[in-house]
Amino acid sequence: MSIQRSIAIDGPSGAGKSTLAKALARELGYVYVDTGAIYRTVGLAACRAGVDPEDGAAVAALLPGLDITMGYGPDGVQRMYLNGEDVSQAIRQHEISRYASCVSALPAVRAFLLERQRKLAQAQDVVMDGRDIGTVVLPGAGVKIFLTAAPEARARRRWLELNERGQQADYDTVLRDVLERDRRDESRAAAPLRRAADAALADTTELDLDQSLALLSKIVKERLGA
Ligand code: DC
Repeated sequence: MSIQRSIAIDGPSGAGKSTLAKALARELGYVYVDTGAIYRTVGLAACRAGVDPEDGAAVAALLPGLDITMGYGPDGVQRMYLNGEDVSQAIRQHEISRYASCVSALPAVRAFLLERQRKLAQAQDVVMDGRDIGTVVLPGAGVKIFLTAAPEARARRRWLELNERGQQADYDTVLRDVLERDRRDESRAAAPLRRAADAALADTTELDLDQSLALLSKIVKERLGA
């Protein structure tokens, strides 16, 4: 167990990060950490408090009162708790994506979560996914992967996922939201989404899930020499 054995997966929303990172973790016997879920929990807290997620001072004032914890269900799936309440479902609402994206641009929020994420990787072998894992959170990770796909492919996947969950969404709105989130995640001053110089690029536009997982496994084997 060491940071050098950690696997950092970054990329834009809808590239398949969480599904693939989870599958990769299972394959390797590692713990999967979805850092987006942690930002989503802060976003949910802001939404519930009626706080404007772009108001840095108001969001920062909320942070000391937030008890955010993670756990794993019997199915091995990561669960998020906000002040003791299981919010794993609530953070997946479409509206919370915007809140998460806004609060994640705030330096106070990033600072609040940084050490927490590092400790998780110090305590166990992790596959950690997010936007700044290879660049900021775990710059010493042994494997870094930048996972991406064309915006249209990502919007289509997100749209299918929302429909499967019974949430009404139209494709054009989802595509617009994807492009808007990309722009916000890439252009923010604090830890913007970008590929680390030493990250392997994995583009899944033309790949299905099995092919994508095979590509990631190959990268991991090459880099860890396993
Ligand atoms: O991966 P996701 O869509 O669940 O992430 C939600 C938001 O959190 C997304 O807009 C980007 C942000 N995020 C971040 O800034 N840094 C991370 N390490 C993970 C997520």
